[in-house]
Amino acid sequence: MARWPLALSLPDGPEAADAPLYQRIAWAIADEIRRGRLQPGARLPGSRRLAVQLGVHRNTVIAAYADLQAEGWLEARPGAATVVSPRLSAALPPTPEAFAPTRVGVPLDAGFDLPPPPENAWPEPPKAPLLLAGGFPDLRLLPTAALSRAWRRAITRHGPRLLSYGDPRGDEPLRTALADMLATSRGLATTADDLVITRGSQMGLDLVARALIQPGDAVVVEALGYRPAWAAFRAAGATLVPLPVDAEGVQVEALACVMAHHTVRALYLTPHHQYPTTVTLSATRRLQLLTWAARARVAVIEDDYDHEFHFEGRPVLPLASADPSGVVIYLGTLSKVLAPGLRLGFVVAAAAVLDRLAALRTRIDRQGDTLTERALAELLEEGEVQRHARRMRRLYADRREALASALRTHLGESLTFRLPPGGMSLWAEVAPDLPVDRLAAEALKRGVGVYEGSRFAFSGEPVQALRLGYGALDVAELREAARRLGEAARAVRGRGRG
Ligand SMILES: Cc1ncc(COP(=O)(O)O)c(C=O)c1O
Repeated sequence: MARWPLALSLPDGPEAADAPLYQRIAWAIADEIRRGRLQPGARLPGSRRLAVQLGVHRNTVIAAYADLQAEGWLEARPGAATVVSPRLSAALPPTPEAFAPTRVGVPLDAGFDLPPPPENAWPEPPKAPLLLAGGFPDLRLLPTAALSRAWRRAITRHGPRLLSYGDPRGDEPLRTALADMLATSRGLATTADDLVITRGSQMGLDLVARALIQPGDAVVVEALGYRPAWAAFRAAGATLVPLPVDAEGVQVEALACVMAHHTVRALYLTPHHQYPTTVTLSATRRLQLLTWAARARVAVIEDDYDHEFHFEGRPVLPLASADPSGVVIYLGTLSKVLAPGLRLGFVVAAAAVLDRLAALRTRIDRQGDTLTERALAELLEEGEVQRHARRMRRLYADRREALASALRTHLGESLTFRLPPGGMSLWAEVAPDLPVDRLAAEALKRGVGVYEGSRFAFSGEPVQALRLGYGALDVAELREAARRLGEAARAVRGRGRG
């Protein structure tokens, strides 16, 4: 690795006052070794370089290094760099009291009191070679060559400008390209001025929560839903009120009862493919919801995280496309259609909301990754993202069929599910005689990771269901995962009887 100059502070206490300069340099280096800042095997700068840095004669540094070598701190071989002795790993040599270290490395505990840690919104997924991770795209098929060309073009053509401070709402060409996408394929009459680009929709959710919520406000959420969004609302001071979900999506009819008991500021919903059950909110409920929200002056936060991947019937347009009253705050992401690591999401909302989001964004990180934003704008303009989306939609539709048919073969009556209308996951109810936690544990022993229903439950209680993602595995992998899941089910039943 390239070397930074070694910053050394020479001891200047009473013990050091009469010591020669080379000795003080040696003590300083020994002290840094004891503190763990200079690790065994670490290279020290050449004597000429350190002498220039410290403003001393080179012979002074040579004398300090010689002293440290004699004491066993350093090692030098002819023609090679001087290093901290690798033999020091086991035990550091005794040191003079005056320079005893106060600590080694960075302390684990803070030297002050901390409030309780933030909510862990997303428990670690199980670690398994065949992870049926809900809603995760297949990154093996990313158009990496096109991405790398676009990045290179962005930096060579616009580097100095894009690497300066920029617009907190995001790079203008990407906002234009996204507005065009929204107008063409999602029915939203938008221009570049109607959206703010965020680092993933999670930042969008957090900004919206901060902009909207005052402590004590209620936010209505889906009783089976997306925990990271809930965490953002709670952090902004909201009380969350869960609404049940059924085969038509969230039960909008239950809102009247909620309103009787709470000051509702917003609803957070996933109407396109309800997360995690995948159902599409029915047309009747959509209408009821928008009418109710406009009358009650309540914001509807619509999280449309995988819009591109809808397989059944005609495209279903977002609530935001039928919202003359400006109640909908619409969030989208490129995490599913491209890759989550790009951290590119966007929020479409009334101008007054966007102004607040931009102001808050300035406070957090000032602006996004403008270079990546420009690269993506070019990929959208060239149609590369659209081509990738078309290809992946076909692929995910095939994978959906493959997983469904393999599950029917290997698990039969143990799972009940409908083919999801879209997305990258399937929601399966598990037979009552097959406890989900034990099924997941047996699957994990066989190298298959699944998401248990309780992961999505507002109540945190067990849910006899699994969310099985089919996006990130190919057809052969999905068949193998289903076969092993069938084995896991038999193992649970066998043990139950025994
Ligand atoms: C419901 C929901 N919203 C949003 C996202 C995307 O989050 P981000 O854009 O922050 O990657 C996901 C991804 O898992 C999701 O499942």
